[in-house]
Amino acid sequence: MPTIIFCSPYSKIDVPAGTSILDAAGKAGIPLESPCNQIDVCGKCRVRLSPDSAGSIKTPEDFVLHPAAAQNGWVLACHTLIYDDIEMSEIPVRVKKDAGSVLAHGLCHA
Ligand code: FES
Repeated sequence: MPTIIFCSPYSKIDVPAGTSILDAAGKAGIPLESPCNQIDVCGKCRVRLSPDSAGSIKTPEDFVLHPAAAQNGWVLACHTLIYDDIEMSEIPVRVKKDAGSVLAHGLCHA
């Protein structure tokens, strides 16, 4: 079962292979904003993965993220599926409005 590590706030959770990052974040208590209802148009769910995580995911081509962002590890959490251990290096300050907390913006140092 793949393990996903979130850096800020630190959280670690095991999820079944094929789980989306968005769903894993929700299970970890980090509900990411997803206003387009996961139809790949808003880009609000974007997160940045550590460079070592690239081979552990499957993500379809998207037309929301700038190619340079994708090359720097940014993915859409709603469409990126986890197949092996990954580490989230950056989660922008964008959680669901009813989540009641604000996440820090920055790199993981856990
Ligand atoms: S929720 Fe809109 S692109 Fe992922």
